[in-house]
Amino acid sequence: MAAATSYATHAMASPAGQWAILALLSLSVSLTALPAGTGFSENPKLICCKIYISESRNKSALDEIDKAARNDPENVVVLSKFGDHIYNRVRYTLVSYISTSEWIYSNEGDISKLTLNVSSPIKGVLLEMVKAAISSTLSLDSHQGEHPRIGIIDDLSFHPLGDAKMEDAVYLAKDVASDIASSKVPVFLYYEAHPQRKTLSDVRRDLGYYKKNGTAGQRSGVMELNTTEGNEPDVVFQKNKPDVCPAVVDQQILQKKGITTVGAMHFVEGYNVPVRSENFKKVEDIVKRLREQLGGRGGEGPPKFLALALRHGSFVEVGCLLDPNYLRADQVQDKVKQIAAEQGLEDKVEKGYYTDITKDMILLHLSKILYENRILGVCQS
Ligand SMILES: *[C@@H]1O[C@H](CO)[C@@H](O)[C@H](O)[C@H]1NC(C)=O
Ligand SMILES: *[C@@H]1O[C@H](CO)[C@@H](O)[C@H](O)[C@H]1NC(C)=O
Ligand SMILES: *[C@@H]1O[C@H](CO)[C@@H](O)[C@H](O)[C@H]1NC(C)=O
Ligand SMILES: *[C@@H]1O[C@H](CO)[C@@H](O)[C@H](O)[C@H]1NC(C)=O
Repeated sequence: MAAATSYATHAMASPAGQWAILALLSLSVSLTALPAGTGFSENPKLICCKIYISESRNKSALDEIDKAARNDPENVVVLSKFGDHIYNRVRYTLVSYISTSEWIYSNEGDISKLTLNVSSPIKGVLLEMVKAAISSTLSLDSHQGEHPRIGIIDDLSFHPLGDAKMEDAVYLAKDVASDIASSKVPVFLYYEAHPQRKTLSDVRRDLGYYKKNGTAGQRSGVMELNTTEGNEPDVVFQKNKPDVCPAVVDQQILQKKGITTVGAMHFVEGYNVPVRSENFKKVEDIVKRLREQLGGRGGEGPPKFLALALRHGSFVEVGCLLDPNYLRADQVQDKVKQIAAEQGLEDKVEKGYYTDITKDMILLHLSKILYENRILGVCQS
């Protein structure tokens, strides 16, 4: 089935439809599914997932994961892939449509309630990638890179696009998380997928993600685990329990593959600004001030700006994630320059670069897919 047809036939309920559900509920009308939406939607419900794998140098070890990413090209598009050998990390940005998003009326423990049911072809592809990573030779034991990490499948972030709602992204994030846990890799949730909206930075800090491990600027998540006394999650993870955990912890898999973080949030763009300085501390100070000046949380939601200083060869990079609804990359660039100038580093700031396709580019590509009724294929960023 071509993706374009799927978008059209699976156009989903509008917010008005969801209000209708509440109205119906108050009339105690039993309901199994929300009526389908208004037919063809120019703004279909789409889901984007960025999946980060801790390895980029060893092509043969990554082959199977790469193959899995491209395993359903009719329905799931690899919009970009970005690897950095110094960080030893690769990110895939996948986009697909949401094939079902409906509220269903269910009887759970005799209490009738509405629950959401969301499905998307993206789930199948992500699980194939996860399985490929787990069965690969990739292991934290032999992984070194300048980007911190805590798992071979280090992170998945889900972002609603088009008419999709955050609740769709949250559903898919949790659904995929539970399948990852079934594959024996424990998962910590963050942002909108976490019951208390825990931030990714807080999850990572609690896991020791940012700790340096001693060898020349390398960082690696250090989990403090009780590995001697048993395989029950309660024993192994005493202080900091995963949100989604295999029933029995496989110590060997845990050792090699680590854990995974899975979250849902608004779409973010990746933008890195290189600073030609060996003074890591000074660049960290710049990042701290950047966060103070740009990083306010837009209301309840995740921050509109995140930044991290990372060594990158003889440079230090300011790695940023920004919410394009609030901030443009050129504003970030100007701000880095301005703060660096106050540190006497103005002429050390290089022009930054996008690490991923921007939201505008995604929407442009997808409108082409929709209107030209074909799949664009792979676009290397
Ligand atoms: C790269 O991966 C292959 C296949 O998984 C493995 O045999 C080889 O040892 C790896 N090479 C390095 C340098 O890690
Ligand atoms: C959720 O939707 C999928 C796809 O339409 C369907 O196969 C499944 O049965 C639904 N689940 C429930 C609980 O209704
Ligand atoms: C630090 O990382 C290196 C490379 O992965 C590893 O060999 C070493 O055991 C790690 N040290 C600690 C203290 O975790
Ligand atoms: C590991 O867990 C057991 C059981 O809870 C406990 O008795 C033991 O002290 C723990 N060991 C460490 C090193 O935390």
